[in-house]
Amino acid sequence: MLSNQAGDARRSSLHGNWSSRMAFILAVTGSAVGLGNIWKFPYVAGQNGGGAFVLVYLVCVVLIGMPVMMSEILIGRRGRRNPVRTMELLGREEGSTGRWRLVGGVGGLAGILILSYYSVVAGWTLAYTLKSVSGVFSGAGPEQVGAQFDSFVGDWRLVGLAHTIFMGLSIFVVARGVERGLEQAVRFMVPALLVLMLVLLGYSISTGYFAQGVVFMFTPDFERLTWGSVLAALGQAFFTLSIGMGAVMAYGAYLPEETSITGASAAVVTADTSIAILAGLAIFPLVFANGLTPADGPGLVFNTLPLAFGQMAGGVFFSTIFFVLLSFAAWTSAIGLMEPAVAWIVEHFDKTRAQATVAVGLLIWFVGFGSVLSFNVLSDFEFLAGTIYDNIDYLTSNVMLPLGGLLITIFAGWVMCRNSTSDELGTSGNLFRFWRVLARFVAPIGILLVLINAVR
Ligand code: PFF
Repeated sequence: MLSNQAGDARRSSLHGNWSSRMAFILAVTGSAVGLGNIWKFPYVAGQNGGGAFVLVYLVCVVLIGMPVMMSEILIGRRGRRNPVRTMELLGREEGSTGRWRLVGGVGGLAGILILSYYSVVAGWTLAYTLKSVSGVFSGAGPEQVGAQFDSFVGDWRLVGLAHTIFMGLSIFVVARGVERGLEQAVRFMVPALLVLMLVLLGYSISTGYFAQGVVFMFTPDFERLTWGSVLAALGQAFFTLSIGMGAVMAYGAYLPEETSITGASAAVVTADTSIAILAGLAIFPLVFANGLTPADGPGLVFNTLPLAFGQMAGGVFFSTIFFVLLSFAAWTSAIGLMEPAVAWIVEHFDKTRAQATVAVGLLIWFVGFGSVLSFNVLSDFEFLAGTIYDNIDYLTSNVMLPLGGLLITIFAGWVMCRNSTSDELGTSGNLFRFWRVLARFVAPIGILLVLINAVR
């Protein structure tokens, strides 16, 4: 008998269910598509030398990201609880131990840590929406745009205020619950973002530096590839797909029985990867056209895109829409980052959703000041990976998410029996066998190899 305890909840979850397969795909896409694609991917690719990094990132997305995402969804749907409880129940049910709950616990913590800085950068995008409306970017050159960025992030009060507003918005929507959340809005947000990225791409092509951007992004120079950048590519794959921390697992708990996990995962991975690649293709030509450097760091998008908008006809309009959409994309991602911890508090301490959200949100808001200050008052306070922001980013993307993904694939591939997983994936044919090889061997061995080599 495979489904006993967890099976009681099999039909529906305590937190409600997605209204349809489409609603689920939209929600997971909303969580995946965010600052990671447009803000983080280009700057991390730039810092790691371009081409070879991008190639490793794409390989990680397909061979590791895809099986981890499928594993997370199937575990979530089988357990139908918050990630901590789900891992505990399934661990026992599959004849292992309830200690697997630690995977859920560490994941919830990763979500809290990630949102603490994610919200700060989302605050920048909110502020850039206002700057766009004001027209400060119209006709501005690289120095002016750069000065705008430096003076903005240099003012901790402004950055702190924007972070506070963004956290307020996130708390508001998470407190209202799954079904009344934002997933419907994703329906127009993702296509609209795609369209705007194409507009930007058009401008980038017109600069005459497009070829240079493409060469930077796609010509692998393996000489320059270090284990550190391979780890950064792996971390970026996890970050951008929202996997390795239980967010997708928490969403999977609300997924109807009939939905194809493979199809949903493929749709999300495709949308997410396309937007990241488009962002890179739009941004790198601008970097070269304006004499900037790809390795500029977290300010890269804020120092390049306003330049393009400032030059194009209708720039104020496009720029405003772009930063609104980006803020929105960050908002739908923030929900995924809070969900595991919130669902755990609701179930474990028997609190209302609103109480749990406010508690988690306040904690994140507070921790976020570490990152607010990393760009101004405490910018010289460096240890290990750099500033407080750098350390939280490194710890979460490059350590916690890959380790979480490793344990999740080991759980789905080795602890859960064949029947349980083929039952959830709805097939035992070739597709299932392929997933199982990836989940049992390719993904765990790949993650371990990268982690071991990068820390040596
Ligand atoms: N995938 C999001 C992005 O690329 O912006 C970030 C993220 C959201 C990570 C939700 C993890 C998560 F649970």
